[in-house]
Amino acid sequence: MASLAPEIGTNLHTDRANPHWVRLGDDSKLDHIPGEDGWPVLGTTMMQLADPLGFQRRMVDTYGPVFRTRSFGRRGVNLVGADANELVLFDRDKLFSNEQGWGPVLNLLFPRGLMLMDFEAHRVDRRALSIAFKPEPMRAYCSVLNTGIASAMGQWGGKMQFYDAIKALTLDTAASSFLGLPLGPEADRLNKAFVDMVQASVGVVRKPLPFTKMGRGVAGRRLMVDYFGKLVRERRANPGQDMFSQFALATRDDGALLPEDVVVDHMIFLMMAAHDTITSSATVLFWQLAKNPDWQDKLRAEARAVTGGDGLALAYEDLGRMELTEMAFKEALRFMPPVPNMPRRALRDFRFGGYDIPAGTPIGISPAAVHADPAHWDAPERFDPLRFTPEKVAARHKYAWAPFGGGAHMCLGLHFAYMQVKLLTNHILTRFEIVMQPGAEPQWQAWPIPKPRDGLKVELRPLR
Ligand code: HEM
Repeated sequence: MASLAPEIGTNLHTDRANPHWVRLGDDSKLDHIPGEDGWPVLGTTMMQLADPLGFQRRMVDTYGPVFRTRSFGRRGVNLVGADANELVLFDRDKLFSNEQGWGPVLNLLFPRGLMLMDFEAHRVDRRALSIAFKPEPMRAYCSVLNTGIASAMGQWGGKMQFYDAIKALTLDTAASSFLGLPLGPEADRLNKAFVDMVQASVGVVRKPLPFTKMGRGVAGRRLMVDYFGKLVRERRANPGQDMFSQFALATRDDGALLPEDVVVDHMIFLMMAAHDTITSSATVLFWQLAKNPDWQDKLRAEARAVTGGDGLALAYEDLGRMELTEMAFKEALRFMPPVPNMPRRALRDFRFGGYDIPAGTPIGISPAAVHADPAHWDAPERFDPLRFTPEKVAARHKYAWAPFGGGAHMCLGLHFAYMQVKLLTNHILTRFEIVMQPGAEPQWQAWPIPKPRDGLKVELRPLR
């Protein structure tokens, strides 16, 4: 999906002028690209939102891997394929802007997040923030997560909606590992503000009117900005082992601390980047483990072998030994990636797949479509973690699998995501057998992040 939402919130850029800013291109300059303008006013928006993958498949079959759509009132160009992923993600020639791709969707609520920055400004802040993902802090998060997940397991078991349970758990563990806050009313208040923001960011009404999602989202942002502003000062004076303390103490190339408001914006964005992605991908993994008991047994046996028994903590040093679990998670991310499409805007004219594409064009790539392409994946509808043995990986196009993106904007939290999912797998599978409830087979809502409409009805049977 190339253009995801109307141009909004661009006023939020005024304090950090982007020297690469390019105006949206003239729609008529895309007449030569094959594709569809869809219905009057709505364009192709509703078709794209209703069934993104089915829509893309039809478009690729009809027009080829470079095609034009018109969503949210703008024409854009979609580039589908592993080479297209490489061109856009690796972006050797600095042709594509993230800020102007993601900005229209996220600027209003998550301005100045790392993913919405371009080039040198992005490089400097990414380097500063990456200290939060070095082994020492990661070891500390691992320990907090082990404790949080283990204690939640006491309330798990029986018939449950897996998505809802994992979402609540991920929020609670974010409060402790990201913010260093104990569970309680304060963490609940922040969690609610955060959930309101995330919901608003994809709401249809883009003005913060009373009683709308956007109204609640903007109020949630205000609360978080205020709270986090105080927290930066507290953590600078008295740092803990949480991620927020790492950000508060992060320095730029010149050795200066990041300004307080910049720390706040990065943290709010990071929480958004981490939360629904882990919730969605862990749900897909456990759905497939419920449907593939042989894989469930293999992962349980691996967890027992690595930790030495049932219900034990998984040490940071042992994460690398959870090899099958890692392959299964990678397969879940292939099967249904949490970020199925990624938007950009072309900053200069370029040529791809035989077409000249002008500067200012909204561009979309679709890792989800490439993940389902039989040219790269034998029987793509089958869940098969063995696709990720080192030999198979080496034999494949490097960009045929891109759930974490690639290049300069490659997900900064991917090792955190692997860690959290390995911990979840260990704690859940060494306590419970997971099965689907009779007759349950979820319908998946694709937009904005895959989610089972019924919450994924499973039963967790305690192991003897
Ligand atoms: C399964 C879980 C996750 C998935 C699939 C995922 C996916 C992605 C993708 C695709 C991007 C790049 C988007 C683009 O280039 O347009 C990204 C960026 C990012 N992610 Fe993740 N993410 C996950 C978890 C996390 C977690 C747990 C964190 C933090 C702890 C995180 C933090 C970030 C940040 C900060 C960026 C921006 C990086 C940059 O622009 O330099 N993500 N993520």
